[in-house]
Amino acid sequence: MSATTRRRGPSVRLRLTLSYAGFLLLAGALLLAVVWLFLLRYVPDQAVTVATDDLGGPGPRSPYLFIPGRSDLWEAFAPKAALVLGFLLVCGLGGGWLLAGRMLAPLGQITEATRRAAGGSLTHRIRLRGRDDEFRELADAFDGMLARLDAHVAEQQRFAANASHELRTPLTITQTLLELARKDPTRDTGRLVESLYAVNTRAIDLIEALLLLSRADRRSFAREDVDLSLLAEEATETLLPLAEAGGVVLEASGDLAVTTGEPALLLQLTTNLVHNAIVHNLPAGGRVRVSTHREPAAALLHVENTGALLDPELVATLAEPFQRGAGRTQDGHAGAGLGLAIVRSIAEAHDGSLSLAARSGGGLRVTVRLPAAG
Ligand SMILES: Nc1ncnc2c1ncn2[C@@H]1O[C@H](COP(=O)(O)OP(=O)(O)O)[C@@H](O)[C@H]1O
Ligand SMILES: [Mg+2]
Repeated sequence: MSATTRRRGPSVRLRLTLSYAGFLLLAGALLLAVVWLFLLRYVPDQAVTVATDDLGGPGPRSPYLFIPGRSDLWEAFAPKAALVLGFLLVCGLGGGWLLAGRMLAPLGQITEATRRAAGGSLTHRIRLRGRDDEFRELADAFDGMLARLDAHVAEQQRFAANASHELRTPLTITQTLLELARKDPTRDTGRLVESLYAVNTRAIDLIEALLLLSRADRRSFAREDVDLSLLAEEATETLLPLAEAGGVVLEASGDLAVTTGEPALLLQLTTNLVHNAIVHNLPAGGRVRVSTHREPAAALLHVENTGALLDPELVATLAEPFQRGAGRTQDGHAGAGLGLAIVRSIAEAHDGSLSLAARSGGGLRVTVRLPAAG
């Protein structure tokens, strides 16, 4: 509710009707005035009576001819003119009211849909029929906006449900472990502590991933020039021990590729991709290649790895939150399925994009395209 109270003015329908009738009346009056002026040219100032003899020739039988003057003409003309104007007024008001009603009908439908949307129903659509005019354009744009909002809200709800489910899992495992320990106090507490520690670590990782995702989505961070090739170097160095443990050969190469962004988030993006490339790789003899490139308007990061053959349809969904592929991971440790969702959010927060492509020989090729600095 707005704080200022608005006075309700006359409806648009009434205003359109009045202006329509007004114009009709004005046009009618003008036309009658022109007719009047035209008629005046053939009428003398005063009425005259002429003897027909004066006219000469074989005149009518009556000896006199009466020629009406202006006042006679006015007496005959004025009532008819008033009648015509009255008729025009009635026609203008009635026709204008009907026409304006027909013209404005779509506005009612649009207002109704807006009210419903404001009331929380996003499934309603206007679906305006009829010709392609301004109202139709407005209604179609409105329907498009409702569809996007609807999809967005559904996605948020799905996300919240998935996140709650994922967060419940470590708590349920903890609960089970504690129950077992309570029933059997003679159990090895060392192993219990180990298990609880591992489960707790997973829960913390998951919450940190969720916080990171919301931070990237909010887009509220300072930006500076960042060279992707340096980030690639840093990420590969950090993850080299993991690659070596899995027998994966890790190579990094590339040109200077400078973009503008938040260094910590962009490092996270790079690390997630390299980490995925290592853990979702072949059980033995895997390879990962990280490279950076620059184009006139873009800085590119490619991460390519060997691995199991991937279904292109599945690949298209991998960046959705909590989406995990079917394959086993290198370290046997299932992730939360948020790695690529975080990468995509960070890329989009930097006005960039993430694209995934299954390699024909198995494995994945990931490209992050960010706007070039400057
Ligand atoms: N480099 C990759 N090679 C093969 N598969 C991958 C790669 N990166 C991601 N995936 C697949 O995409 C899924 C989602 O990845 P991600 O969002 O990082 O979640 P997580 O790694 O936690 O499972 C993974 O479970 C995996 O199946
Ligand atoms: Mg991952």
